[in-house]
Amino acid sequence: MNQENQCPPQTNPFKPEPARIVRTYYLTEDVKFFQVRIADMEKALSFRYKPGQFAMISVLGAGEAPFSISSTPSRPGLLEFCIRKAGVVTDALFRLKENHLIGIRGPYGNGFPIQNMKNHNVLIIMGGIGAAPLRSVLLNCLDNRDQFQKVTLLHGAKRPAEMIFRDEFFDIKDREDLECHLSVDQDDTGEWSENIGVVTTLFPKMEKIDPQQTYALVCGPPVMYKFVLQELLKLKIPRDQILMTLERRMKCGVGKCGHCAIDYIYTCLDGPVFTYWDVLHMRELI
Ligand SMILES: Cc1cc2nc3c(=O)[nH]c(=O)nc-3n(C[C@H](O)[C@H](O)[C@H](O)COP(=O)(O)OP(=O)(O)OC[C@H]3O[C@@H](n4cnc5c(N)ncnc54)[C@H](O)[C@@H]3O)c2cc1C
Ligand code: FES
Repeated sequence: MNQENQCPPQTNPFKPEPARIVRTYYLTEDVKFFQVRIADMEKALSFRYKPGQFAMISVLGAGEAPFSISSTPSRPGLLEFCIRKAGVVTDALFRLKENHLIGIRGPYGNGFPIQNMKNHNVLIIMGGIGAAPLRSVLLNCLDNRDQFQKVTLLHGAKRPAEMIFRDEFFDIKDREDLECHLSVDQDDTGEWSENIGVVTTLFPKMEKIDPQQTYALVCGPPVMYKFVLQELLKLKIPRDQILMTLERRMKCGVGKCGHCAIDYIYTCLDGPVFTYWDVLHMRELI
């Protein structure tokens, strides 16, 4: 892991930092937004991370689990997460209110190669909870807009009520320095003003981009990858410029327990961001 992304040295790498929930609210029926601040202000401000990295969040008595950092490093001090209720830890997290304490350790994983992406087009394709890691890179691009060429967002959800960060994306949708297309598979409200269809139906609506100058970032449900990858290959985006953030079962997050291993790869260290090239060589990744 890059030195600049590490927390200040800790004596015990498994010891979480106490962090306070500053804000929490429902994004959809089963997904909640958490804004948290590490209790020690100095540590809060020196917590450096890259978009695409994750943190281990722990709740006393319930355990811990990995979650992508959804906030952008360009706005230090607060960390944001977007969490779907799935089991023991997330159930406990959903019961916590503002001001409650949780534990945080990290940041972990490789994150997106932001340095290489500079001066390139950035095409972000997200589906469902895939918005969690990709919101970080989107906000980071928008906060450092002069460092990137064209920034395009394609975001798909099943229904309007299931679109994560819907209000936020509607707020930025008409920015002149962003091309943003939103879609739902089905409109059960009769009030949806954007595209209707699976996320791949947005590709023909995109303005033309130079594929050699483009990084494409994908995160979403497993079924989405196959069809989105086909579209990206049709656009002729180089395989090593197609980046995916993938989930594996993890326990330690730091390459010690072997839970996330595939062959010789530890996805907590070598991932969660992989290129399409990596995936072609390790089909088990998806
Ligand atoms: C790098 C990374 C980033 C992530 N980012 C996010 C994020 O931003 N937001 C988010 O909501 N989630 C994210 N996740 C997923 C999240 O870590 C899991 O949903 C986590 O398991 C939730 O913990 P839990 O204790 O609430 O659920 P668990 O109690 O662990 O249960 C979760 C699900 O897994 C099943 N399960 C439990 N144990 C096993 C087992 N041994 N084998 C197979 N299935 C099992 C359960 O039946 C349930 O369906 C991320 C995962 C990774 C690896
Ligand atoms: S989660 Fe323990 S080695 Fe990766």
